[in-house]
Amino acid sequence: MTSVQDDTSAVGRPAAPFPAGFRWGAATAAYQIEGAATEDGRGPSIWDTFCRTPGKVLGGDTGDVAVDHYHRFPEDVGLMAGLGLTSYRFSISWSRVQPAGAGAYNEAGLDFYRRLVDALLEAGIEPWPTLYHWDLPQPLEDAGGWPERDTAHRFAEYADCVHQALGDRVRHWTTVNEPWCAAFLGYASGEHAPGRREPSASLLAAHHLMLGHGLAVEAMRSRTPGNQFGAAVNLYAVSPATADPADADAARRIDGLQNRLFLDPLLLGRYPDDVLADTARHGFDPDPDDLAMIHQPLDQLGVNYYARHTVAGTPGEAAQTASSPFSSHSPWVGSEHVRFVPAGRPVTGMGWEIDESGLSEILVRLHREYPAVPLYVTENGAGYDEEPDGDGTVQDPDRIAYLDAHLRACHEAIAAGVPLRGYFTWSLLDNFEWAWGYSKRFGLIHVDYATQRRVPKDSARWYAEVIRQGGLPG
Ligand code: NOJ
Repeated sequence: MTSVQDDTSAVGRPAAPFPAGFRWGAATAAYQIEGAATEDGRGPSIWDTFCRTPGKVLGGDTGDVAVDHYHRFPEDVGLMAGLGLTSYRFSISWSRVQPAGAGAYNEAGLDFYRRLVDALLEAGIEPWPTLYHWDLPQPLEDAGGWPERDTAHRFAEYADCVHQALGDRVRHWTTVNEPWCAAFLGYASGEHAPGRREPSASLLAAHHLMLGHGLAVEAMRSRTPGNQFGAAVNLYAVSPATADPADADAARRIDGLQNRLFLDPLLLGRYPDDVLADTARHGFDPDPDDLAMIHQPLDQLGVNYYARHTVAGTPGEAAQTASSPFSSHSPWVGSEHVRFVPAGRPVTGMGWEIDESGLSEILVRLHREYPAVPLYVTENGAGYDEEPDGDGTVQDPDRIAYLDAHLRACHEAIAAGVPLRGYFTWSLLDNFEWAWGYSKRFGLIHVDYATQRRVPKDSARWYAEVIRQGGLPG
C-alpha cells in the first residue's frame, strides 16, 4: 500500500503543534459505508426501511452497497495506515449483531467487527467504536422505537454483548451518536428514519437515547472498569441575529434544545428548567429518577461540530414556523417562533455556514460550564461534490481550508486550557449522506461508487502531513 504521505514536501516543526499523544483520527458509520445489507444474517434497520420509502432519500439512494466496506475493510485499513491515523471511529450495526434488536445474537456479525478491530490493531490504529449511529433494528421500531422506554433497555443489553465480544481489545467506547438527530430528525421533522412527525414522541426519544446511554455505560463499566466511556453529541454555537431581546430569547431556546437538553443530563444530572418550560406543551415530563442513571461519570465526551446557528425571534408570527438549515421541512419541537437566518458567511456544499470560531467557543464553554471531562472532537468536516480531474487527482482546497481553520480553533482551545485530547475528521471515505444520498461527499478519500475505486484527495495528503508533523504548518 502506497503511503499518501510519500509525496508531501513540507518539513520541519509545525507552527501550531498539538500535545504529544493527541489522537488524530477519522470517522465513519456503519450504515453509511458497510453495504452488505442482507449478508451474513444482518437484519433490517430503520434506515433500510426509510430508504425504500419513496421521496425520503435523494435519488432513491440506499445503503445496500454503500462503499462496500464490509468486503473492502482490509483495503480501507491500509488507507488509514497510509494516512498515519492513530485512531479510527466507526460504528457497529445493531442489526448485524442482533438482527431482531432483542434475543439472539449473530456471531457472523460480531465476527466482522472482531476482524475489523484486529486489522486496526495490527496496523497500529486504535479502534473507537460507536454503538448507536442511527440504525435501529426495524423490529424495535415496529414495537414503538426510541419513544418506547424498553428500547433503552434493549440498547444496554446489545451494548453489553458487543462489549463482551470486543472489550478485551477496545478501550474507548461511544454509546450514542448525535442523539439530537436521532430524536428530532427521526421523530419530529421526519427527515431521517423512521420518518415520524410526532413532537411528544421525539422528546421521549431524546430521553430514552440518553437513558440507554446511562444503562449501557453502567453495564459495560461493571464488566471492564478500565475502559473509557462516553457519548458523542452534536453541538452548535448559537448567536442571536440582532440585539433585539426576542432574538436573544430565540438563541437561548435553540441553545437549550440543541446543546443543553443533552449536556445537562449527561454531565450535570438534570434537565435545564427553561428547556422543560419550553417543551412542557408537548407533555415532556421525564422521570427524575432516570437522571441518576443518565448521569454516569464520563471518561470522554465527543463533540461533533459543523456550524453556527444564527437565529431570530419571530414572536408576532404564527407558531411552528421554525426551520433550520438541517431541518427544512418542519418545525423543531419547542422552537416555535424562531427563524434561522443566514449570517452571510461562506457555506460548504451542504449550505452550512463555515464558522470555526464556533468550535473553540463550544470547547471553551464546555470546559468552563461543565465538570471537567476529557474532550474529543469526534466529527468535523465539510461536504462538497468534487470529482477527480482528468489526471485522476481530486483537488479539494475548500475542504483543506475548512479542516485547517477548525484545527486551528482546536489549537486555540487547547492553549486556553481545554482538555481536548483528539480530533476525528468526518469522514474517512465519501459515503451515504443520509437523506442526501450519495450527492454530498465528506471523505478525505474519494470513492467512485460505480467501481468502488478509492482515491485519496488532496485533503488526505494534507491531513497525513499534519499528522506526521503533529500539528499545523505556519
Ligand atoms: C453527523 C453524523 O453523525 C454523520 O453521520 C453525518 O454524515 C455527518 N454529520 C455529516 O452530515
